[in-house]
Amino acid sequence: MSKNTPSLAAPRGMRDFYPDQMAIQSHLFDTWRTSAERFGFQRYDACVVESLDLLKRKAGEEIVDQIYAFKDKSDRDLALRPEMTPTLARMVAARQGALELPLKWFTIAQCFRYERTTRGRKREHYQLNLDIIGEPAVTAEVEVIAAAIDALHGLGLTPADFKVRISSRALLGDILAAAGIPPDHHAAAFLALDKRGKLPDEKIGELLAEAGVSAEVQTAVFGLLDITSLDEVRALLGERDSEGLKDLDACLAGLAAYGMADAVVFDIAVIRGLAYYTGIVFEAFDTDGKLRAIFGGGRYDNLLAAVGGRPQTGVGLGFGDVVVAELLAEKGLLNTGTQRARITVGYMADEQQRTAADVAARLRAEGEQVDLALHAEKPRAFFSRADKRAFARGVYIGPDDLAKGEVRIKDLVTREESVLSLA
Ligand code: HAM
Repeated sequence: MSKNTPSLAAPRGMRDFYPDQMAIQSHLFDTWRTSAERFGFQRYDACVVESLDLLKRKAGEEIVDQIYAFKDKSDRDLALRPEMTPTLARMVAARQGALELPLKWFTIAQCFRYERTTRGRKREHYQLNLDIIGEPAVTAEVEVIAAAIDALHGLGLTPADFKVRISSRALLGDILAAAGIPPDHHAAAFLALDKRGKLPDEKIGELLAEAGVSAEVQTAVFGLLDITSLDEVRALLGERDSEGLKDLDACLAGLAAYGMADAVVFDIAVIRGLAYYTGIVFEAFDTDGKLRAIFGGGRYDNLLAAVGGRPQTGVGLGFGDVVVAELLAEKGLLNTGTQRARITVGYMADEQQRTAADVAARLRAEGEQVDLALHAEKPRAFFSRADKRAFARGVYIGPDDLAKGEVRIKDLVTREESVLSLA
């Protein structure tokens, strides 16, 4: 290829969906939508381009450094959204007086992040977002998590394949407070702790020091991340009252009441890398721990006010298409949808084209998905094409059929035929 010829590949990290991949994607989106609607969420959508200002928050979040930003011709600072949550907050804030709360909304949003592309990470991905705005009770967490688990079930995965790991920043805040760290340092401490395993501990130590955490307390905080059960947390808190702990207990009980207890585990090390979470946080992982998070979310009670709205509580999650597809492929569950549920209609010569078009129209009117040949073909060419394209049934029309006044619909798998009268 000459130097001036553009590459035929999509830009690095961006994705083309050829029909085979699109069939998989459609099946995933259908499953997402079915579960979201089954749990009473209403669909919304928004522009992919956002104002940069809305997306940029205080430093410390990886996502802010990954934004695809640009200026438009009027010098406005715009960006491709890296996530949906700030846009949702903006939309709700813009109509806060008129919207009936609590609201339960979902969307399937295309998002862009300039990330290092690795397994499960692209520069473009789609996310199911489920959010509930205006409900302070933990019932909101239960509904969004249960709907996402329902979607995983819908895709054929069971709790043996994945676990939702759940914790609470409020609870961790109580623990940090018990360790003497003032609340205004907690957000920075959370972001630093979230880097555990991704950065060396010394580097995290430096971030914690910047957040006002002394070296001595750092060691204590790292130690806390080794806690494995809520009983240990209870023992640690002793008589100290913790709303965070009560909420977490209630959330686990709510999911158990849905019969989902075996899909959820407490994990104090789940913190989440976004600054806006205030309460319960959670992430779903494959049981083998090979892949990145399947979905993640939590409670964000200050975001509406932060984007300029009146204070209002929020809970939600983002469930990406990339990681779950990897997991489904690994489990042999990648469903390519209904490619065989289609009929193709062909004909031998131009004289039969009109009849072929009539037959196609009749079958379409009956609700069938029908492909009509775009030109006359020899029978061999027709049946070979029908096979290669995996049509379920074929109708091939020749001069004899016209004379007889009937055509045969052939099942291309069983080779059985049925007769359709042209009258
Ligand atoms: P997040 O954890 O940044 O949360 O993303 C949610 C999910 O999107 C991840 O668990 C992953 O499945 C997928 N994802 C994220 N980045 C990529 C990428 N570069 N390539 C492939 N998949 C990716 C949020 O975005 C929050 N806004 C979710 C939320 C909604 N919180 C409340 N409401």
